[in-house]
Amino acid sequence: MKAFGVGLIGFGTVGAGVADALIRNGELLASRLGSRVVLRGIADLDLETDRGVKVDRALLTRDAEALVRNPDIRIIVELVGGTGVARKFVLAAIEAGKTVVSANKALLAEHGAEIFGAARARGVDVYFGASVGGGIPIVRSLRDGLIGNRIESVHGILNGTCNYILHRMETEGLPFAAALQAAQAEGFAEADPSLDIDGVDTAHKAALLARLAYGLDVRLADLCIEGIRGLALDDIADVKALGYRIKLLAVVKREGDAVEVRVHPALVPEKHVLASVSGVFNAVMVRGDLVGDTLYYGRGAGRLPTASTVVADIADAVRSLASGTPRGWPIDPAGADLPRLLPIGEVVSRHY
Ligand code: HSE
Repeated sequence: MKAFGVGLIGFGTVGAGVADALIRNGELLASRLGSRVVLRGIADLDLETDRGVKVDRALLTRDAEALVRNPDIRIIVELVGGTGVARKFVLAAIEAGKTVVSANKALLAEHGAEIFGAARARGVDVYFGASVGGGIPIVRSLRDGLIGNRIESVHGILNGTCNYILHRMETEGLPFAAALQAAQAEGFAEADPSLDIDGVDTAHKAALLARLAYGLDVRLADLCIEGIRGLALDDIADVKALGYRIKLLAVVKREGDAVEVRVHPALVPEKHVLASVSGVFNAVMVRGDLVGDTLYYGRGAGRLPTASTVVADIADAVRSLASGTPRGWPIDPAGADLPRLLPIGEVVSRHY
């Protein structure tokens, strides 16, 4: 059986989850893939913290670039997060001709043009399934399952922290600050939780969905982004009396030759399927011109759910390396029927 070496950069919550998943389901994966995935190195600055997974200590290093240089490593998995050193490692891996798997929504949303452009120029693939929706295979659904559709709209609850906060405020009357603290204790929140509660994390994910659905390279500065920080228990009670729930929604929607991309708290009718998505769960509703409405639901954050999607990307990468044919992913949007981004001032919508 062929073996493909993987180097993991970042040994935090998700990194440890990926190592755990590869150890516990490695045989199963090999039997399904017909190739073995071999973890050949794990880089992190902190090698002392117990990550809750038993790995051979010889795999651990503080030198991420050594993994990028290692000829026995074909796939670099970037799970550092943020847009600083992660960008450097991803670009170095692409330059070295490695396939990249990343769960880094901030990096790919803010530097997507540079990173995907470099990958296309070098002829390597960049997979980013876990950057949107955690354990939900929404990226591959848009990329593969719905490939024949013109996407009409995407509506998503994409931030587990915000959904968890809103749920606890609504069901237990917990004040915002206490609900945020509880979400942080559960480990869903970003290191800087303002990214969650101010809607920026959701906007990163919306930007990636807009890239997938329409080939748009969206700049966050051009989007309408509003988070849940300003919501009070009274707001939630008031809209409940009217038959609605408040959800932080990402909306990506085609309107003629333009696409609107926005993130804000929205009133969802209690009977709508998205209203029943609670706690850390995420859900995405995609409407395609052929398929109509489709719905994707699952855990949008957390160690093993996110690892599940990272492992699926590694598996895709292995299949493509084994066949010797890069997927050419992400696809160059230049030839596509590129719409423009609709300025928020031109968006027509009911509002409260
Ligand atoms: N902070 C994010 C969330 C993690 O709460 O959804 C997953 O992207």
